[in-house]
Amino acid sequence: MFTKSSLISSAKCSLGSLPLKAHQPKRLLSRSTLRPTSARQYASVAQSFQCYPSQSPDSPTVYSFFERDTFTMQYIVSDPTTKDAALIDTVLDYDPASGTISTTTADEILAFIGKCGLNIKYILETHAHADHLSAARYYRNKFNVPVGVGKRISTVQEIFAPIYGLESSSFVDAFDLLFQDDESFQLGALNCRVIHLGGHTPDHVGYVIGQSAFTGDSIFQPDVGSARSDFPGGDAKSLYSSMQRLMALPESYRLFVGHDYPVDRQPIPVSTVGEQLLSNNHIRKGINEFISFRNSRDLVLGAPRLLHPSLQTNIRGGKLPPPDGLGRFSFRIPITTTVAL
Ligand SMILES: [Fe+2]
Repeated sequence: MFTKSSLISSAKCSLGSLPLKAHQPKRLLSRSTLRPTSARQYASVAQSFQCYPSQSPDSPTVYSFFERDTFTMQYIVSDPTTKDAALIDTVLDYDPASGTISTTTADEILAFIGKCGLNIKYILETHAHADHLSAARYYRNKFNVPVGVGKRISTVQEIFAPIYGLESSSFVDAFDLLFQDDESFQLGALNCRVIHLGGHTPDHVGYVIGQSAFTGDSIFQPDVGSARSDFPGGDAKSLYSSMQRLMALPESYRLFVGHDYPVDRQPIPVSTVGEQLLSNNHIRKGINEFISFRNSRDLVLGAPRLLHPSLQTNIRGGKLPPPDGLGRFSFRIPITTTVAL
């Protein structure tokens, strides 16, 4: 089994004068907690850039970009032979106080793609994220390639559309590809397989590309453990099954997570199945113990800061809700109160 240090290298691609030397993780394993580290460690997403080189002809080169405001790991996955590539779980910059959406992060990654000479073929989502706005539509407009997501996105759309007053007609062209369970497709010479990883959300899928899996929020780094399962359609039992499904992959497979919430280390996107089996205490619990633990932990977690804007954008594949009659875009925020006002 390869070591953490052997997975990480400075990449050959760069972004001008930005300091792109890959940082070395201090330590992967520590006390499990969901409390995040400071969100101000990096001046730009490019500074968190890491490259995980291909290890064999059937293994992708992976570039990770940590988005510090939402603790999201964004990925470019590339076939080393053809340079065909996919984007996974990208992020728009959103300032809720001013209602401003910008593309600074996405534009840095676009510059990176151009410098590396990568051929973007797919834009992939692991699920309808509730904590950040997807940049899928922005990239789609740049590359004119399909946006793919698991077929159960329709379940999530049906749950949330009435809450936000979205008509079913507004989802007609939200996604280009609705993947079936275990559907396969090619990325250059690499085989990609879509696996259903429900539990965090009902639509959640992972992408097994060569000997790497992109897990989204179905598992986190060993010292963080697992994601919450209390969103509508979420389920701790299903999440446990999804984690075990990942653990059934060969121990050498790389697992790239959708978020990282480090406490006393730098953000790290990757572990191996073997490392997870050895050190992730959430996986090592029995199913009943995990369900009890997960449900009690979720009870004390607050709603994600960008919950409502994220869902209204992401169930439409990164498109904003339709504008009003004056061409103005806005998000709805449902209010709960027992007070007559
Ligand atoms: Fe999520």
